[in-house]
Amino acid sequence: MKKFSVVVAGGGSTFTPGIVLMLLANQHRFPLRALKFYDNDGARQETIAEACKVILKEQAPDIEFSYTTDPKQAFTDVDFVMAHIRVGKYQMREKDEKIPLRHGVLGQETCGPGGIAYGMRSIGGVLEIVDYMEKYSPNAWMLNYSNPAAIVAEATRRLRPAAKILNICDMPIGIESRMAQIAGLKDRKEMRVRYYGLNHFGWWTSIEDQQGNDLMPKIREHVAKHGYVPPTDEHGVEASWNDTFAKAKDVWALDPDTFPNTYLKYYLFPDYVVQHSNPERTRANEVMDHREKNVFGSCNAIIQAGKSSAGDLEIDEHASYIVDLATAIAFNTQERMLLIVPNNGAINNFDPEAMVEIPCLVGKSGPEPLVVGNIPQFQKGLMSQQVAVEKLVVDAWEHRSYQKLWQAITLSKTVPSASVAKAILDDLIEANREYWPELK
Ligand code: NAD
Ligand code: G6P
Ligand code: MN
Repeated sequence: MKKFSVVVAGGGSTFTPGIVLMLLANQHRFPLRALKFYDNDGARQETIAEACKVILKEQAPDIEFSYTTDPKQAFTDVDFVMAHIRVGKYQMREKDEKIPLRHGVLGQETCGPGGIAYGMRSIGGVLEIVDYMEKYSPNAWMLNYSNPAAIVAEATRRLRPAAKILNICDMPIGIESRMAQIAGLKDRKEMRVRYYGLNHFGWWTSIEDQQGNDLMPKIREHVAKHGYVPPTDEHGVEASWNDTFAKAKDVWALDPDTFPNTYLKYYLFPDYVVQHSNPERTRANEVMDHREKNVFGSCNAIIQAGKSSAGDLEIDEHASYIVDLATAIAFNTQERMLLIVPNNGAINNFDPEAMVEIPCLVGKSGPEPLVVGNIPQFQKGLMSQQVAVEKLVVDAWEHRSYQKLWQAITLSKTVPSASVAKAILDDLIEANREYWPELK
């Protein structure tokens, strides 16, 4: 069986150890010959990498492991780039979330003005990684889950049209795992779904078991009462996420024939979200206090003890979609997966140049999208507005345009007026001086 060389871009990410453990658990179907980490913050990456080095030595000493901040070393001789960078790190996520809240608008990592601000930072960072990959390993594929994936995907579609890059999100996978549990199945892979939308902005229209039986009625009965909070919660999900899964009940009620992505709550119930936000303590603070502290604490303990049992790093089970995707390309499995791809007619009555999230068959030459057909007025209206926001952000980045970015924020369904949009934009510009191109 062929063995592969992978570089994780954003090696210092809190998700890196969970993904390394997941890669190790999948060596039977996606074997590695080399694993490298790349990050532009050497000190942050070193902690994660030195701990992973201990784990790899214990579990897979044959995999050649290294980490670096040098692009040439990182991107030379790789088959896959797994990219999860966060330009500006949590310090800037906190600002993305808190600045709009000061103006009475919701603050969220990937939605509304916060997501737009993050997009303006991410585009350059992700393009740089695409360019390194194309320069040093022109045959490699980039599996990107750096956020905001919708904006990043539009930027690469437009600015690097020939790049071998696949954009993917784990939210549908997380929701489908809950649906499977609700339907009494062991694994979401026992379901066959139809879904369409934009990233963090879509709907399931059909869910069947492997025999073709409709699972929608059973799931619907549960979602109508509890949203996506499953009968028993084995995962010990944090309260803020649990609220999002519960709120899916109200989001669902708008179109009970389908099931919504949880992120639609930010667009359909923005007033509710603002009322339930604490402008002094947002999700970034929770993540810094919990996930970041836990992961780095464990890594330091492992480094000191020289053995992995000293920490409590956990395998990121549901990140196995990344292995599914890599395996699909490496071994031409033709697995059916939701990916963010150019619409190109798949949704018949929607912009062919929009990046949409739809089922695709994935093989060695990439994704083959399945036809969705026509979508209803409600979804089409919402998606048209949101896709215009995403395109305007890329326009703004490309042409360094204040005007386009003001239009983008104004058009976001989360923002009440052009004057509020302008006030938020001016604060965001101030906060992002180090990261955004200078706007004219
Ligand atoms: P994190 O801040 O812990 O890690 C990100 C790393 O990226 C940091 O070590 C940082 O130094 C590095 N980085 C920043 N800019 C870089 C650049 N230009 N080049 C190289 N490295 C750079 O963040 P996290 O919470 O672990 O999340 C990582 C990313 O994964 C985020 O973009 C997050 O939104 C994304 N994510 C996406 C999905 C999805 O569904 N698509 C799921 C989970 C996480
Ligand atoms: C889901 C989404 C990601 C997002 C993450 C935020 O997994 O699909 O796109 O980055 O949630 O989670 P966090 O725990 O960082 O708030
Ligand atoms: Mn996502």
